[in-house]
Amino acid sequence: MAGHDTVPLARCSNHHEIEPRNIDEKYRQYVTIMNSSPVKSSQSGVHQRLDSVVLRHLKSDWRQPLHQPTINAFEKLLALPGFNAGRNLILDSGCGTGASTRLIAEQFPDSIVIGIDQSADRLSRLGFEEFPCSIGNTFWIRAELASFWRLALENGWQLERHYLLYPNPWPKPAHLSRRWHAHPVFPKMLRLGGQLELRCNWEVYADEFARAVELVCDNAEISRESARNEADWDAIKTPFGSKYGRSGHTLFRVQADLQPCSH
Ligand SMILES: C[S@@+](CC[C@H](N)C(=O)[O-])C[C@H]1O[C@@H](n2cnc3c(N)ncnc32)[C@H](O)[C@@H]1O
Repeated sequence: MAGHDTVPLARCSNHHEIEPRNIDEKYRQYVTIMNSSPVKSSQSGVHQRLDSVVLRHLKSDWRQPLHQPTINAFEKLLALPGFNAGRNLILDSGCGTGASTRLIAEQFPDSIVIGIDQSADRLSRLGFEEFPCSIGNTFWIRAELASFWRLALENGWQLERHYLLYPNPWPKPAHLSRRWHAHPVFPKMLRLGGQLELRCNWEVYADEFARAVELVCDNAEISRESARNEADWDAIKTPFGSKYGRSGHTLFRVQADLQPCSH
């Protein structure tokens, strides 16, 4: 990314314009300080209850009340200058610092790209202090994903692409339902459609995710691949993906074309 001279001003929800600090520099500092161990789990394959859990969620209409701060943040996002839900929409769900959101937005300049994360600490590491915020076609919002996805669906959003980059793996078998594909919101999340991409460093998570997509959208086109480094795939990299690659982990990704998904 270019320096301050060419980076447009960031716009935040109070409609004040602020000059972002140098995002590239922050990103480099952030990714070089981390290292990590591979995921450890007593589970070596797809969880034996995965199918029954996913099918149960598919049959029931999950109606947990929406998270109020997420409703408020969603409304502010809709009102942000330059936001247009009618344009091609891309989500970077669980974006962490939001560095990947910027890279996705550079790759798809004609789309609106929204990075969503619940962690104020992570989101603030690139220099912003309030959310939602935007620079050009990149938007960042602090929100809880299960509520955000349902609000997006209620507002009729249909996505062009949807990235889930290195979600928390929840490797204990007892924590199956905390993994996104076994969460009650999963069937609704898939209804947002588009080209869905999951990345992770635990093969079991990738296998389960692909299986769950197949169960919910039996005609979705699903592909799976692995790599040593995110650069083997494309220019979209994340702090966690970089850390795992540097630590020698195999990276996995699942891509699914949800256009034909009619559940
Ligand atoms: C392992 S980090 C990956 C961050 C980033 N995608 C990357 O690859 O560097 C997972 C992120 O998901 C976010 N997250 C987990 N559960 C969430 C939820 N229910 N709503 C919003 N964000 C969530 C966490 O705050 C965290 O930043």
